[in-house]
Amino acid sequence: MAKITFITQSGESIAAEAKDGSLMELAKNNNVSGIEGECGGVCSCTTCHVHIEANYYSKTGAPGDIEADMLELDDHVSEYSRLGCQVQITAELDGMMVHVANE
Ligand code: FES
Repeated sequence: MAKITFITQSGESIAAEAKDGSLMELAKNNNVSGIEGECGGVCSCTTCHVHIEANYYSKTGAPGDIEADMLELDDHVSEYSRLGCQVQITAELDGMMVHVANE
């Protein structure tokens, strides 16, 4: 089980727990504002863009080539950007904070 806290663009903090699934699914299930998941998680929309807390970034794995290409197109990209649908939740991510990139 991992407890993950989402911080929205308006500063709202939403804590959620899951033992598997993707960050995007967890955000959608908990009505996190700014995470739309429009493409359903197939890495083709960037409406699940998040900034991972720096010390957890390496635990989320590296973005794949398609994900990296998609992120390049997003205005809010940072060195800690990931597409939430491409991050699988594991126990290692327990305690992580992520900032929603889009409003
Ligand atoms: S839900 Fe579309 S890229 Fe993640």
